[in-house]
Amino acid sequence: MKVLVTGGCGYIGSHTCVMLLEAGYDVIIVDNLCNSKRDVVDKIKEITGKDVIFYKGDVCDYALINKIFSHHDIVAVLHFAGLKAVGESVLKPLLYYRNNIDSTLNLLEVMTKYNCKNIVFSSSATVYGAPKTLPIKESAPLSTTNPYGSTKLYIEGILRDVYEADKNWNIAILRYFNPIGAHKSGLIGENPNGIPNNLMPYIIKVATKELEVLNIFGDDYDTPDGTGVRDYIHIIDLAKGHIKALDKVLSGSGIVCYNLGTGHGYSVLELVKTFEKVNNVKVNYRIAPRREGDIAACYADPTYAFQELGWKAELGIEDMCRDAYNYVMKCKRNTSD
Ligand code: NAD
Ligand code: UFG
Repeated sequence: MKVLVTGGCGYIGSHTCVMLLEAGYDVIIVDNLCNSKRDVVDKIKEITGKDVIFYKGDVCDYALINKIFSHHDIVAVLHFAGLKAVGESVLKPLLYYRNNIDSTLNLLEVMTKYNCKNIVFSSSATVYGAPKTLPIKESAPLSTTNPYGSTKLYIEGILRDVYEADKNWNIAILRYFNPIGAHKSGLIGENPNGIPNNLMPYIIKVATKELEVLNIFGDDYDTPDGTGVRDYIHIIDLAKGHIKALDKVLSGSGIVCYNLGTGHGYSVLELVKTFEKVNNVKVNYRIAPRREGDIAACYADPTYAFQELGWKAELGIEDMCRDAYNYVMKCKRNTSD
């Protein structure tokens, strides 16, 4: 069974491609490589020992997506392609709306044309805005504070409208919490260029002395140690959630929506301390002012995904810290060889 993975060279897409191949799916990737590298395809092949079809191109390119569907009998799409930097989205809202929404519209139009009506979509816990109650259930009120989050919320709305108009669609909306970690092999993972926006890549760059010090954005939140609390989830657990969601979609789910998180919140300081302990390295940090737009705490109620999919996260915060560091160290060794 062939599945199309948009953004399959990216962080979450690449790990999910490995799981898809291991589960016996045939994988076709389309990615314009705006935030990833071509060699990820080779790494996916190396890990799984299986072949992957790769198209370099933009999901906003109707002719390309049409060509892919005309050449392959695709049963479902996992739609990861999108821009994801919150700060950049505030500076360049049109880029985010154009890329994230146009790509989705194109995809849905071509899928309709070829009668492929099964899709798994990458949404985000960002659609919960500043949550009023914790842990967060799927039924919590939705709102956003930046254009990136708005693209996710609008796309969720588009998917609901598409389903209302045609009940033959099967759609899984997955709201991810904070994915970190990497594949055990150290062949794929997350290693952004430049100064990272997110906590784990920043911690790693401080640990490896590429950056001098981690700024902890605020220690006066209403949390046990005053620093921000998030639901960090191992990328492998997240990828496994996609296989379960895809199975559900292919069994005729209608439209469904699941939180993919662990249900546990860890503070910035807890993550830093755990990282130092398991990797036996020092992470210099200082307390800095709060980052604009940040919330105190955010963690999932993952019960619904367990009830409906039989999925729950299994790996712990120590695995996440170890595997994330292992991947970056391996990248470094390879580039210095
Ligand atoms: P990523 O940037 O590593 O992967 C996205 C991939 O999509 C990249 O390989 C990029 O080159 C590609 N891409 C972007 N726009 C494209 C386009 N128009 N056409 C073709 N390819 C395109 O990001 P990720 O962390 O793997 O995230 C995957 C999805 O999950 C995104 O939609 C993101 O918004 C969502 N998400 C991510 C997180 C997170 O913390 N990483 C949290 C919640 C939701
Ligand atoms: N933090 C620091 N210093 C840093 C970076 C982050 O103290 O240099 C803190 C933040 O203040 C926050 C926590 O670390 O308390 C996590 O921050 P991230 O930037 O890693 O993650 P966010 O929870 O802010 O946001 C991420 C993605 C969003 C996504 C959201 C939920 O960036 O796109 O998770 O999935 F919507």
